[in-house]
Amino acid sequence: MNIAVVGGGTRCRKLTDLIERHTFQEISPRIVAVADEKDDAPGMVRAKEKGLFVTNDYNDLLDRDDINLIVELTGNQDIYNDILSKKKKTVRAIDHKTSLLFWEILSVSDMQQETRQKLIEKRSLCDVVMNDLIQEDVMIIGANYRIQDINDSMLERLGLEFKDAISQYCYEITHHQKVPCSGENHPCPLVQAIESRKPSQTTHIHLDKDKNEIFYSISCYPLFQKDKVIGAIEISRDITKDINMHKVMMQQEKLISIGRLSAGVAHEINNPLTTILTTAMLLQEDIEPDDPSYEDLGLIANETLRCRKIVTSLLDFARQNTPEKKGNNINDIVMESILLTKKQAAFDDVSVEYHFSEDMPPICVDKGQIQQAIINLILNALEATPSGGQITVDTLFSLQAQQVEVSITDTGKGIAEDKMNKVFDPFFTTKETGTGLGLAITHGIIEQHGGSIDMRSKQGYGTTFTIRLPIRKGDKEAD
Ligand SMILES: Nc1ncnc2c1ncn2[C@@H]1O[C@H](COP(=O)(O)OP(=O)(O)OP(=O)(O)O)[C@@H](O)[C@H]1O
Ligand SMILES: [Mg+2]
Repeated sequence: MNIAVVGGGTRCRKLTDLIERHTFQEISPRIVAVADEKDDAPGMVRAKEKGLFVTNDYNDLLDRDDINLIVELTGNQDIYNDILSKKKKTVRAIDHKTSLLFWEILSVSDMQQETRQKLIEKRSLCDVVMNDLIQEDVMIIGANYRIQDINDSMLERLGLEFKDAISQYCYEITHHQKVPCSGENHPCPLVQAIESRKPSQTTHIHLDKDKNEIFYSISCYPLFQKDKVIGAIEISRDITKDINMHKVMMQQEKLISIGRLSAGVAHEINNPLTTILTTAMLLQEDIEPDDPSYEDLGLIANETLRCRKIVTSLLDFARQNTPEKKGNNINDIVMESILLTKKQAAFDDVSVEYHFSEDMPPICVDKGQIQQAIINLILNALEATPSGGQITVDTLFSLQAQQVEVSITDTGKGIAEDKMNKVFDPFFTTKETGTGLGLAITHGIIEQHGGSIDMRSKQGYGTTFTIRLPIRKGDKEAD
């Protein structure tokens, strides 16, 4: 549709620009001519720039064949009436007021398009920030706990699609709860951020499908609209690795300092203990067995021997003996350990079974120390298992991990959940005559060999301790 404009003012110029920018669905309007008395009127100038037909007399427009519509923008009724009386029948005309109406409509829809465009730009910027720049899990949550946006990383962790998470309650999606998080141990960072109007930070502990603890550090940043908090951006990060690393380091530091202390004390105690022991034995030799002091001296000697055993354990724990590593077959070491504990097992009426993986490569270890570690584990298993129970010792070679594994499983009483992270602590014992050093020593020995030890237990069902030792380069030839 070709349009001629009568009146080349500012509105004419804007109309020219607007029509050019706007995308029309049904018609394709085009301004082809402009008439105004003044050559320097803004609409006239723009028309000239665009190479349109311009004239100072609107009558020039009325004879033209290429015009379908005349838009009168001067606001002068006489001019409009004149145009109506002179125009060709096939040409339509609209007056200043009607054109104003269309102009307003056009501006509104144009503005909407601009806003939409801006929103799209903002949205894609938001997408880049949420999904590409931030590697953590991110959610935008309204003050009503409903999720307004969520990034791909978080969706992947939750195993959800965007449409499943959006508009849902955050506590339902992340915690499978019917009510928001609360309480001292599980505070809601969103509530904290809304109430304090400041960023908040908390740590949540969740359990994975194997009941392992996963630690999340959650930060919430409040979102304001006209001074009112309308929600928050929540960023959460899995810090389990950091926490576990920290725990291991703390444990190691603790073991090292206890080890040093024990070594010092043990050395000091060893000599007086030997003196007490030999003196008690010499005195006992000098008297008759029916002497009233004979039994007491025997008791002194026995208790001193017990003290010496504890001191020896302390010295072992302090790793006074550097391992003398040689090529060994782990199956042989395990077999000897089983034989050495056989009497105890028979006495406890506990059967010991073993399954050894064949083709075990030799590993470079201190045989005595590894044997001591395995014996400690078997003795613990025996002590935890009631008569009629069973202990199974398995060995395994993992070609992929380049390591050998020894696991000792019992059908004993198991370990209570609240004690599980204490069993490797030096001096932790639940036994009346235990030193609580067996597992600490075992842990130390395995660590010194570059290996690892872990434990799985279910109270009332039994426990498995697994030792893993690496096969280092050259171990195969070490024999
Ligand atoms: N197989 C097991 N089943 C159940 N509990 C166990 C087992 N192994 C260890 N424990 C628990 O761990 C604790 C610490 O074990 P550790 O070997 O370090 O010391 P202990 O056996 O008590 O003393 P010691 O080794 O000097 O005789 C034990 O007292 C026991 O509570
Ligand atoms: Mg023990």
